[in-house]
Amino acid sequence: MNRHRKGILILGLETSCDETAAAVVEDGSRIICSLIASQVEIHSRFGGVVPEIASRRHLETINELVDRALTEASINLQDLDAVAVSNGPGLVGPLLVGVATAKALAYAARLPLVAVNHLEAHLYANFLTGHAIDYPLVALIASGGHTELLHLPAPGKPVVLGRTRDDAAGEVFDKVSRAMGLGYPGGPVIDRLGAEGDPERITFPRAYLDDNGRFDFSFSGLKSAVINYLHHSRQRGEEVNAADLAASFQSAVVEVLVDKTVDAARECRVKSVLLAGGVAANSRLRRCMRERLARNLPGISLHIPPLELCTDNAAMIAAAAFPPYREGRFAPLHLNAVPGLRSGCS
Ligand code: KG4
Ligand code: ZN
Repeated sequence: MNRHRKGILILGLETSCDETAAAVVEDGSRIICSLIASQVEIHSRFGGVVPEIASRRHLETINELVDRALTEASINLQDLDAVAVSNGPGLVGPLLVGVATAKALAYAARLPLVAVNHLEAHLYANFLTGHAIDYPLVALIASGGHTELLHLPAPGKPVVLGRTRDDAAGEVFDKVSRAMGLGYPGGPVIDRLGAEGDPERITFPRAYLDDNGRFDFSFSGLKSAVINYLHHSRQRGEEVNAADLAASFQSAVVEVLVDKTVDAARECRVKSVLLAGGVAANSRLRRCMRERLARNLPGISLHIPPLELCTDNAAMIAAAAFPPYREGRFAPLHLNAVPGLRSGCS
């Protein structure tokens, strides 16, 4: 045991999609160690995540990763205060590997088990940076599986202001990338390529929806418009400028994400805006959100996680488990994976 550590140590496990991750976090805010075994290379051959392959790979990897995390943190299992795991939303097979592992560790070491909503956990990546975050706040979580705008008047369960009605923001990056022959995952490639292109070269649709759903998102129309543009160009034998296409598509996604988040921040009279999820790694989104808030709502502070904490990791799971740990909200040993778990539930 490392006797210098007096805080609460939580082991977090993450297996909801294609990253196996284990991390030890102290007091929900200090990363002692954070390990990620990515499966991206395996799945990129198939153009997307193959759930059965992901489950098997998690199974092969997780025990060794937990051992390594404890070794790097210089602690034993018994030195922990709790084990936390994301039990949804995500792919059922992959989630089950993390849930079963966490339950076995908690049972063996007689530790409390904390269940964490994966989507809400993305928010907690912002609490690992050492910056104080003032409530009330509005948070945009944009990942490969979800796009949600949340309002947190105070610490605790979020109020969902809106969510995507069809494809998630990350999902359209991945699908457009596949249609352009750029591979998986699409976000980082389109981000890089788009930086060299003209975002105003092609005008793609932006969906703002009616008054009832004005904080909801819809990206499937944009996805179809990009795919149609590619088809028509190919049919006509015209060469597509990939950088301009990537820049124009990216600009359409980012504009809607920024507009709705800024509107929500103004309406909810918040002190902070948080970005989270894989799409928060997007350089145009980071820049445009910063510029728009500085221009339109200068008193509001913007928090964006460092790149490595935007995409899936276990440090955010351990951080998200800290408030329920302190409140004694533990999960039973018959905890199950809930693939369709919604925000505001765990
Ligand atoms: O949060 P995450 O790691 O996993 C889920 O919980 O889904 O998000 C992965 C998603 C992928 O769709 C990926 O293409 C997207 O985040 N992504 C990005 C960027 N980096 C990752 N999207 C846009 N720009 C990026 N730089
Ligand atoms: Zn995620």
